[in-house]
Amino acid sequence: MIYPIVKYGDPVLETPAEPVTEFDTPELNKLLEDMFESMYAAKGVGLAAPQIGISKRIAVIDTSVGEDPSKRLVLINPEIVACEGGQVEEEGCLSIPGFREPVKRPKRVTVRARNAKGEEFEMTGEDLLARAFVHETDHLNGKLYINHISVLKRDLIRRKIRKLIKAGEWT
Ligand code: NI
Repeated sequence: MIYPIVKYGDPVLETPAEPVTEFDTPELNKLLEDMFESMYAAKGVGLAAPQIGISKRIAVIDTSVGEDPSKRLVLINPEIVACEGGQVEEEGCLSIPGFREPVKRPKRVTVRARNAKGEEFEMTGEDLLARAFVHETDHLNGKLYINHISVLKRDLIRRKIRKLIKAGEWT
């Protein structure tokens, strides 16, 4: 099932999500499958559960955008355990469509998370994968990439979005 993506302005995106306590259940496996399907439909490299209106600490990532099944990653209850270096690249978010801004992120990020079965693992990513780890973990803490840009740029984006909302073009 493809879920609609929740847009900026919905409080669920700015609410810290609840940890997952039950693993390897049919409900969780179905939700993960739906999250991948919804992410691919939206052509994203990552999707966090709050972005489909579900306030749980779950994210899916695929830096190949569906081209390479070995790139599919499930992060449940993720925590960032180490960061190294820096990179500045344009970043966007499925919940803030039409906008992209350069964002400074660490070059290398190590995340500790659980998989669908509840097994804990650690993984280190570089470049785009490192960016996805911090972007998606931020989502689960109620933070968006625009929290990492200047107040001036953030206000400009907010103003443009308010106009889109008024025009009925932000749904
Ligand atoms: Ni996002």
